[in-house]
Amino acid sequence: MKEKGQLSLEKIRNGLETRFMGQRIFYFEEAASTNDLAKELAGKGFEEGTLVVAETQTHGKGRLGRRWISPRGGIWFSVILRPAVGSKDAPKIVFMAAVAIAKTIRKMLRLTAKTKWPNDVLIHNKKVCGLLAETSISEDNINFVVLGIGINANVDTNAFPKELTGSLTSLKKESKREIPREEFLQALLKEMEHYYNEFTRGRFARILEEWKSLTDMMGKDVEVVSLDERFGGKAIDVDQDGALIVKLEDESVKRVFSADASIRL
Ligand code: BTN
Repeated sequence: MKEKGQLSLEKIRNGLETRFMGQRIFYFEEAASTNDLAKELAGKGFEEGTLVVAETQTHGKGRLGRRWISPRGGIWFSVILRPAVGSKDAPKIVFMAAVAIAKTIRKMLRLTAKTKWPNDVLIHNKKVCGLLAETSISEDNINFVVLGIGINANVDTNAFPKELTGSLTSLKKESKREIPREEFLQALLKEMEHYYNEFTRGRFARILEEWKSLTDMMGKDVEVVSLDERFGGKAIDVDQDGALIVKLEDESVKRVFSADASIRL
């Protein structure tokens, strides 16, 4: 029996207008990490578009080795992708997903969602969604990508540790209403399938333009933090490889790949 407040797979499946995204769904009441489960399934050969979704995660994973807090009410899921592109194109996948998420929020909830490099979605400068892509590669080929998406849908942001509450928000808080999570997921999967198809058809340049039109970062002073360095500069562009281009004080230019960047207020 489905308890109140649980995702209904039936509702997600009914009227899901995709060809492959979410056509097979593995549902868990609780999981350690949906990314880990999806990687296991991908290794067993499950098809592109297979989804793993959980009501809560006990060991949710964030970028740069961080943990991702995943209470009930959120949308925590991972999707298996098998793009026929070279391994150096794998990091671009998060851009297509961030655009799809920002667009879904804008269309469905009429909220001004923005993209933030490398792969967050913000509302009013606060994080509402994070993405974690994990790729399995042999030689130059991608075996699979597991794209993990965490959306603070109906979560209570006060329940998060104090040091985080100031920097994150939820769809419920911003829209002042309960989010129909199944409807949201349905709309998002459709949007993601569209952008993913664009990506695999070699149209990343177009996706990147859309991503840039949805961000507030360009031209702003930013602080970049990676596992081994921290520096400030002006964000001037994101290039065709998905790298952030930062102009330093001495006018030199740095390409940044694996880091976090926040606008200095
Ligand atoms: C980040 O912003 O640091 C990325 C967060 C990614 C969280 C999602 S929730 C579903 C999937 N499973 C995980 O363990 N992580 C991702």
